[in-house]
Amino acid sequence: MGSASRQQPSQTNHGVELTISPASGLSDEDDEARELLLDVGGLLAGGGAAGAAAAGGAAPCKIRVRGLCRRAAGGQEILRGVDLDVPRGSVVGVIGPSGSGKSTLLRALNRLWEPAPGAVLLDGADVCGLDVRALRRRVGMLFQQPAMFDGTVAYNVRYGPMLRGKKLTEAEVQNLLSLADLDPAMSSKPATELSVGQAQRVALARTLANEPEVLLLDEPTSALDPISTQNIEDTIVRLKKTRGLTTVIVSHSVKQIQRIADLLCLLVAGEVVEVLPPSALSDAKHPMARRFLELS
Ligand SMILES: Nc1ncnc2c1ncn2[C@@H]1O[C@H](COP(=O)(O)OP(=O)(O)O)[C@@H](O)[C@H]1O
Ligand SMILES: [Mg+2]
Repeated sequence: MGSASRQQPSQTNHGVELTISPASGLSDEDDEARELLLDVGGLLAGGGAAGAAAAGGAAPCKIRVRGLCRRAAGGQEILRGVDLDVPRGSVVGVIGPSGSGKSTLLRALNRLWEPAPGAVLLDGADVCGLDVRALRRRVGMLFQQPAMFDGTVAYNVRYGPMLRGKKLTEAEVQNLLSLADLDPAMSSKPATELSVGQAQRVALARTLANEPEVLLLDEPTSALDPISTQNIEDTIVRLKKTRGLTTVIVSHSVKQIQRIADLLCLLVAGEVVEVLPPSALSDAKHPMARRFLELS
């Protein structure tokens, strides 16, 4: 098992724009997956984040992004003042051409890179002021390429709760596997022997084991067959309805966004150019919106 490396700290928290180097920014996803599942003792001890979430019921946004900027070491702008409101209990779909900054945007939301103070708010609180481990439990993320830890599928699913001293029962593990469209009997299989599609679903079960308030999904179904894709989409919608889960999903598929999202956000060259209900995409003015619609 690889040791968990810490995320490279940003050079500054005070400027609006932050600079990253290509080498340090592209960190290993296995380590990032571990980072996301780190101990949540801070949350339980402090109670602040959970309490604020409960008390902040009237806040309109689960996540608010304001003026979010990101610049690569070479100077090129990756995100250019992104504003986005993610309503609580909604599914927001992010589409846009390759390289438009979708993954970079998603990764700012749970501080896989450090946004400027005040640029990302969770339940009205600046994420920069939250305990990062607590934040990552509340805001779970699935990467494009899932990373499995050595050990069984059950070990992977139990990983997050285990870090805070809770051992999920076999029944709980199997329920989570079912939720992620996997055969519960898979629990004892070595996780490193799975197909990418199976690993992606185990990664979903592992993230859900932390009972997050927000799910960040980066093209989660790109390696899945159509039936599994539909089952995962159903799960996202069901979790929204039954648990009020908020989801931000990056997808290449306009059709997928139209099936499950309440809002569609179109990102082009680091800028949000449209935010609208997916059914209204044909009304969008930006030429890229038309292209996506035509090609979907
Ligand atoms: N750590 C990094 N260092 C330098 N450039 C980066 C880094 N991460 C992403 N980029 C660049 O930023 C742009 C947006 O990347 P990304 O957010 O992955 O786009 P998308 O997910 O929309 O395909 C791309 O041009 C990419 O090459
Ligand atoms: Mg991407």
